[in-house]
Amino acid sequence: MARTPRILHLLLTLCILSSSSISISSAPSATDAFLGCLAAAGIPPRLLHTPASPSYAALLLSSVRNLRYVAPGTTRPLAIVAAAKPAHAQAAVRCGRCHGVRVRVRSGGHDYEGLSYASLDRRERFAVLDLGALRDVRIDAARAESWAGSGATLGELYYAVGAASRALAFPAGVCPTVGVGGHLSGGGFGSLMRRNGLAADNVLDALIVDADGRLLNRTTMGEDLFWAIRGGGGESFGVVLSWKLRLVSVPETVTVFTVRRSRNQSATDLITKWQEIAPALPWDLILRVVVQNQHAQFEALFLGRCSRLLRLMRAHFPDLGVTQPDCEEISWIQSTVYFAFSSSSKPLELLLDRGEPDRYVKAKSDYVQEPIPRHVWERTWSWLEKPEAGLLILDPYGGRMGSISPSATPFPHRKGNLYNLQYYSFWFENGTSALEKRMSWVRGLYEEMEPFVSKNPRTGYVNYRDLDLGTNEMEGNVTSYAKARVWGEKYFKGNFERLAAVKAMVDPDDFFRNEQSIPPHPAAKGWSSD
Ligand code: FDA
Repeated sequence: MARTPRILHLLLTLCILSSSSISISSAPSATDAFLGCLAAAGIPPRLLHTPASPSYAALLLSSVRNLRYVAPGTTRPLAIVAAAKPAHAQAAVRCGRCHGVRVRVRSGGHDYEGLSYASLDRRERFAVLDLGALRDVRIDAARAESWAGSGATLGELYYAVGAASRALAFPAGVCPTVGVGGHLSGGGFGSLMRRNGLAADNVLDALIVDADGRLLNRTTMGEDLFWAIRGGGGESFGVVLSWKLRLVSVPETVTVFTVRRSRNQSATDLITKWQEIAPALPWDLILRVVVQNQHAQFEALFLGRCSRLLRLMRAHFPDLGVTQPDCEEISWIQSTVYFAFSSSSKPLELLLDRGEPDRYVKAKSDYVQEPIPRHVWERTWSWLEKPEAGLLILDPYGGRMGSISPSATPFPHRKGNLYNLQYYSFWFENGTSALEKRMSWVRGLYEEMEPFVSKNPRTGYVNYRDLDLGTNEMEGNVTSYAKARVWGEKYFKGNFERLAAVKAMVDPDDFFRNEQSIPPHPAAKGWSSD
């Protein structure tokens, strides 16, 4: 399936005749030529926003979730292409290649390092291809399948699934404003992961625009590219327009609880024990922890009734002291509201709210493979009582996560990982003083934890993007493979090499490039899919 409107095909052919390789231009005329090309390809002017348009600033900001990357001095896109149909994305890629303008793809805009709308390179001239309008979600409840546009949010997807059936769900992240496109590209974990794995583990097919502007599905893209887009990180391989998803069954009634224990109420002991208990719990129970200020908050989702949950908690974790009044029996869709808004009585329509850009963020992540000793947790409280402190989020793995091969998808953090540890700092004040204090808090605690987390490499989660791990560097006019490997193996371990080989096959000119995109493998070889 390579549906190519005639005008687009003609554009690319003309372009290939006039230039055989990609060089990214900084000339203002390249911008005009790019915009002219988009107009010639039939993109209506109302969908093309340049800094001169009154709509540009509001659209740029609309889905930004980290104000650090729209601060004055940040490199901004020379245009935003607000795609309304697949042909617009195809045209953006073809015109970008033709006129030396890179395309940064944006779905939900939640990238922690702003890579979908900002560039660290002040000379880079790029356009944002905004997929926010490609947000259609179609549910086939009888087949337990869905097609979801990349521009939909997780909340929109959950809402549509919940409206179709009380007995179906989709396993993905906790925050409803996150975009489907970036989330699935990097894996995507949430409260159903111990029973059903990652969002990316439940992708059946996808529609992608490749570096030649062709529209491909699973059959026409081939299994290597289909493997790479399910966890290999956003941007590197093409523009995924929509995803065919496997929906999972859930009981019509599930149980949730949140219990908070302070440092004085033995939170240190509880966290220490939790590290071994939570990853070994039955697959239909997840118990995550958020550690903030001087307390630990234990949040659970159980795919069953309260009475059975209480029996399980008494058997596995009696010290937590969960009792009947802590339980709430609700539907799965209400549980998504419960975890996002700390209340199950809020309306489901909140899932459709796309949120506002309101904060500055810095996050980092680790995988913990051996329980962190109690004295280390005791020491962590002094970090958490600082005025500039952020919080820690501990998401337990095990269950289905541990039973999937580390090479089945690019996401390698499977068996042997007890939990993902996220260091998350957010603040609302502008200015360098707040920035420096918050950044050094996150970096300082991360450094202190080094002896107690995964090693060789110290791994992290690509969707918790962290440019401190390294960024792409150019050697001549190609991205250095050796330098990229440093950050790449932290996110993907042994799968990095295969990702680079796929990249060499599908985008040898490295058109889809950002600070942490996969570079083409210098000695690409054939890979067979799992
Ligand atoms: P955005 O549009 O910024 O894209 C992220 C990256 O993917 C960029 O490099 C972009 O170019 C690329 N990209 C986007 N769309 C693409 C497409 N269609 N095709 C190809 N490339 C594309 N994660 C998690 O696993 N579980 C969780 O519970 C949460 N919770 C959470 C809460 C909050 C508040 C934030 C800010 C983030 C999370 N995350 C998370 C992390 C989240 O999964 C991650 O930031 C995703 O990449 C965000 O996807 P968006 O589409 O919103 O981002």
